[in-house]
Amino acid sequence: MKVLLVDDDEAIRQLVVITLENIFTDVDITECVNAKEAICILESDPYQELIICDYQMPGGNGTLLLNHVHENEIEIPFILHTSTWKEDIDFSFPFPESKPHYYFLEKGGDYLIIKQAISDVPAVSKSKYYKDFSDDYARIRIFYFWRFNKSLCDIYVRINEKKYVKIINKDDTYSPADIEKYANRNLEYLYIKKEDYEEFSTSIGNQPFLQYDESIETAEKVDRNIRLIQQMALSTGLSPTAVKMAEDTIEDIKGEIEGIKTIKNLLDLLEDQQNYLYDHATLMSYLCSFMCEKLGWNTRRSREKVVLAALFHDISLRDPELASVFYRTEERLDMFNETQKKLYYGHPQLSCELIHALEIDYPGLEKIILQHHERPDGSGFPRKIDSKSIGTLASLFIFIHEYVSLMFHFDFDPDKDELILEELENTYSYGHFAKVLEVFKKNFT
Ligand SMILES: [Fe+2]
Ligand SMILES: [Fe+2]
Repeated sequence: MKVLLVDDDEAIRQLVVITLENIFTDVDITECVNAKEAICILESDPYQELIICDYQMPGGNGTLLLNHVHENEIEIPFILHTSTWKEDIDFSFPFPESKPHYYFLEKGGDYLIIKQAISDVPAVSKSKYYKDFSDDYARIRIFYFWRFNKSLCDIYVRINEKKYVKIINKDDTYSPADIEKYANRNLEYLYIKKEDYEEFSTSIGNQPFLQYDESIETAEKVDRNIRLIQQMALSTGLSPTAVKMAEDTIEDIKGEIEGIKTIKNLLDLLEDQQNYLYDHATLMSYLCSFMCEKLGWNTRRSREKVVLAALFHDISLRDPELASVFYRTEERLDMFNETQKKLYYGHPQLSCELIHALEIDYPGLEKIILQHHERPDGSGFPRKIDSKSIGTLASLFIFIHEYVSLMFHFDFDPDKDELILEELENTYSYGHFAKVLEVFKKNFT
């Protein structure tokens, strides 16, 4: 599908380009910034199938192009996309009434509104490149299915843009082999119907459409959880060898600390809750352990400290929903009552006190836990300290904490990798953080 896109505002052009790329399987977009340029393009390359044009542009406004199209009886669908009132535009013929392929679209709409307006053009919906699959199914990262064995809704695999095949029926149980089959074909997602997705308000941290059936043995549960975390770690960019090494280190450290009864109890508490809290803590322990080695902070003590901090930093929070709030999603705290909000802002201190009560000898461990929600620019909590006062291990921890939080936030979508890196680069380029960022970039991108 060939589209001529005329707008002097780069942000709007970008929005329209993204929209077009989500409407057509194949789209060739020519962009320009005023009507005069557009007319030149149209004269040299008249085979365009859709024109989307702004009204007010320096160097030739939209009516200039519209008049050219009208006078030359060019039958290309024309969408005038503008923030100017229709009444305030001086059309030389009734617009859009005079031709069925003229459309008026008010600016200010979001992606969905633009998408709808473009899809409403018959030449678009009839195009062989038009994509009609989008909104019926929602994709779910395949690794998430490992932990459970029963689905409360139908599960599909995607064959192509239009075709989905049901592989698990609602209320059926499934075995790891059922999932492995698809994972081995390098599929990253399985799909559920959009209406189910909405009904179960799905996210990685909270997927009530999948359940444990009573029949799973404890050993199998453990095995499934290990696989889930392995897959999560792999999708962050760690190599299989690095995952294996991190796993060994953590098992080793756990083995040692399990001798201390009080820690063993805390660990059991964590492992009992197979939810966001456990996933977040365990994945953090993998990545922190790996990064410690890459940073050369490789003393056993340092590793033990970050791994323990990873496992226990949120131990005072029991509600996975509350634990999944981080500074970029802080507005979600409004869903909670005052007591819960207070608990949230107090949890670094509270977790610290719990660890302190264990009377174990890991100098600096409490400091990492206490600082895990501080920010390099001093906007964090509880003490609003900035990068100058945040320690080295705490800097690594805060960085990885944000990375893991963003991965969960974007449901481990590989398409978001670049965006995540950009966010990290914007926030962590000074203090001890700069070194962490540099090593991270070398190993994860
Ligand atoms: Fe956390
Ligand atoms: Fe936290």
